[in-house]
Amino acid sequence: MISKLPHVGTTIFTTMSALAQQENALNLSQGFPDFNCDPELIEYVNKHMKAGHNQYAPMQGLPLLRRRIAEKTAKIYGCKYDPATEITLTSGASEGLFCAITAMVHPGDEVIVFDPAYDLYIPVIELNGGKAVQIKLQFRDYCIDWAQVAKAVSPKTKLIVLNSPHNPTGAVLSGDDLRQLAAIVRNKEIFILSDEVYEHIIFDDLQHHSVITEPELAKRAIVMSSFGKTYHATGWKIGYAVAPREITAELQKIHQFNAFTINTPIQHALAEYILKEEKYRDLGSFYQQKRDKFRQVTAGSRFKPLTCKGTYFQMMDYSAISDLPDTEFAVELTQKFKIAAIPISVFYHDREDNKVIRFCFAKADETLEEAGKVLSAI
Ligand SMILES: Cc1ncc(COP(=O)(O)O)c(C=O)c1O
Repeated sequence: MISKLPHVGTTIFTTMSALAQQENALNLSQGFPDFNCDPELIEYVNKHMKAGHNQYAPMQGLPLLRRRIAEKTAKIYGCKYDPATEITLTSGASEGLFCAITAMVHPGDEVIVFDPAYDLYIPVIELNGGKAVQIKLQFRDYCIDWAQVAKAVSPKTKLIVLNSPHNPTGAVLSGDDLRQLAAIVRNKEIFILSDEVYEHIIFDDLQHHSVITEPELAKRAIVMSSFGKTYHATGWKIGYAVAPREITAELQKIHQFNAFTINTPIQHALAEYILKEEKYRDLGSFYQQKRDKFRQVTAGSRFKPLTCKGTYFQMMDYSAISDLPDTEFAVELTQKFKIAAIPISVFYHDREDNKVIRFCFAKADETLEEAGKVLSAI
């Protein structure tokens, strides 16, 4: 069989998690909590299952949930979206990202992507016959050089993919970043896909700047959110896209032949749970405590933390410990010291290796303390 993705293997997350399991190692590699979601949320799902909400929901998502997402979006970002035509429930942000790229990218189109990039974007761009034009975030603060972006834009540029707060680096975009991007795309037919799954996981009193708060960007943007990330339920795979009507119509044409519709009882449960504002408002401080705990328990180690402004990932510079390439160091760490992490070079198209690995700190305090003891002894 001729592969459509000849250069794609199993993702690094699957590889490292399998190795972690085989080595009985602490798994700080894959991005999910090792604690449970709110029992109340589980009860809501249970209630709706028992009430008989177990058949297909509408293709776009449950109307009540779409309405409440629109209300939340208006409240926290001050932006109005029509629940009937501008919001789509998706099978995790992943399916939404897939549908968005597929809707927007035609063969021969160029798509600007920032390296290190979440691993889904480029294979999907290529599946659709597009060409990823990769621009590196600047090591060590992982900022975007907008002059470089302006230079990379060509008549073939169709889409720019953003991710803030950023996986794996923990960098966040500022209001000024959005204004610079707006100036670049003004009067051009370029779409924006903004992956904002960590929108509520932002630290140190920083504010999340969604692209929808910048009108020049909002009118051309699809923004992806993830209930899995926000409510500690990554295994439920439920997210949503907000986008202007014409863009949503194209996205839904793909979605209806992909997932078609999303888990009904969970949508009912979320339509209730989303009203509890504190659950997402307090998420930043919840994970900031985890970040600070992880930094505190590794403070005496030879791992040097990089700045982390958001997400639940801490990048660590291990150059004081080893000269090994990061992929080999990550394997050694798992096999010898029983802690799994993610090497960052795999997120770069040219495999740039800055001797940095990523740890997920969405873990119970005991897990973080145990990890701290091991890492401090290396
Ligand atoms: C940047 C980014 N985008 C999208 C996703 C996928 O989100 P979901 O689990 O809702 O599909 C992840 C999950 O790790 C992520 O880190």
